[in-house]
Amino acid sequence: MPGKDNVKIAPAEGKLGVLIPGIGAVSTTFIAGIEAVKRGLGLPVGSLTQLSTIRLGKRTDGRSPMIKDFVPLASINDLVFGGWDIFEDTAYESAVNAKVLEPTLLAQVKEPLAAIKPMAAVFDTEYIKRINGPNVKKTGTKMDKAEALMADIEGFRKEHGCARLVMIWCGSTEVFHKPAEVHSTLEKFEEGLRTNHPDIAPSQIYAYAALRCGVPFANGAPNLTADVPALLDMARERNVPICGKDFKTGQTFMKTLIAPGLKARMLGINGWFSTNILGNRDGEVLEDPGSFKTKEETKLSVLDQILQPKLYPELYENLYHAVRINYYPPRGDSKEGWDNIDIFGWLGYPMQIKIDFLCRDSILAAPLVLDLVLFMDLAQRCGMRGIQEWLSFYFKAPMTAPGLYPEHDIFIQLMKLKNTLRWMRNEDLITHLGLEYYD
Ligand SMILES: NC(=O)c1ccc[n+]([C@@H]2O[C@H](COP(=O)([O-])OP(=O)(O)OC[C@H]3O[C@@H](n4cnc5c(N)ncnc54)[C@H](O)[C@@H]3O)[C@@H](O)[C@H]2O)c1
Repeated sequence: MPGKDNVKIAPAEGKLGVLIPGIGAVSTTFIAGIEAVKRGLGLPVGSLTQLSTIRLGKRTDGRSPMIKDFVPLASINDLVFGGWDIFEDTAYESAVNAKVLEPTLLAQVKEPLAAIKPMAAVFDTEYIKRINGPNVKKTGTKMDKAEALMADIEGFRKEHGCARLVMIWCGSTEVFHKPAEVHSTLEKFEEGLRTNHPDIAPSQIYAYAALRCGVPFANGAPNLTADVPALLDMARERNVPICGKDFKTGQTFMKTLIAPGLKARMLGINGWFSTNILGNRDGEVLEDPGSFKTKEETKLSVLDQILQPKLYPELYENLYHAVRINYYPPRGDSKEGWDNIDIFGWLGYPMQIKIDFLCRDSILAAPLVLDLVLFMDLAQRCGMRGIQEWLSFYFKAPMTAPGLYPEHDIFIQLMKLKNTLRWMRNEDLITHLGLEYYD
């Protein structure tokens, strides 16, 4: 990482292509939202890159520019979209099916959405069990499929005249799997691609293809994907930024707001029971125990890291934490997430907190997709490579360098994100350490 005054940022000129495996509820809500914002039909609520300011210098300086004016981000007018899906539905048809956005709004952005026809997916029913579709690359080894994806990427780049590209996984959640020998080095991984090794998941083939093409890769789902030595090494060697995993929306977002507050006040927690009902395709895929296990792992890890039970055994050692997700079609994309939190205070007296969050999953996820696309492109233009920990703010299970633990506290994550932007522009980092008491 260069030192202060050394950060050079290439300009955000030309079109930025956004390539998305998974043209489902999240990605179509994101794309339709961008088209709606461009036409003045709505505001990009929830997006830091579009709405947030950043304070610079001392509090008395009165310098708080918009983030988008402070760092050179691509304009939303320069975004072009493409992607892959196992279904042939255009982005417009998929958005209609997802039933997230009103038909009257979708009708106004129909033209650009209907023009997005998913490319044939790399898919494996061993990794996603509850759905299957016709629009898949059927022949060849996993390496042949990776090469076909690379041809798709380069074809898209050419056809749309993109100056730069970013790939963001918005596909379904794959079944739980752990890093294996085949993921340990790039050599073994490539050999595994050639020999169709069963431990290489489709999402890993997309990530590999992106990295080979020098395209930053973000993972919005909890799948292992790029979080293995072979692909991490490849990202560093090829100077490509990567980040993940699993968009922090809904219930886990709430958890990372509330848990740091309770801990800041040294209040104890005995139990945290979280349950959800949701009825979209994501919910259907998560009915499969393998896919649920992947999700459960990321959802459970959050509290342990925030509460640090080893440092505070009297307060958190006996915490019972459970997470449930149930597929319930009548709700569609409008999820309901309940949390029951059993806390205790002074002298151990018990109290309870109940949260009932009637949220809209894809409405919460869409602005995160936008920010990640713009920040990943910025990171690449700054010469940053490998895991982008400063983007942990967006994820339930932030990727970290080997040996480090992830930071889950959303307020620390936000500080890290903004300080990284200050660092890019050679501004003083803000540590909130006021030394005026010592004058
Ligand atoms: N909505 C949220 O708040 C949220 C939060 C965190 C994570 N996520 C994750 O984001 C992902 C997308 O969520 P969604 O609600 O849009 O789901 P969705 O089911 O509507 O869309 C996923 C799409 O991916 C496609 N797909 C599956 N495997 C594929 C492959 N190998 N290649 C190409 N396409 C493939 C499916 O056909 C589907 O159209 C899920 O993994 C979900 O767990 C969503």
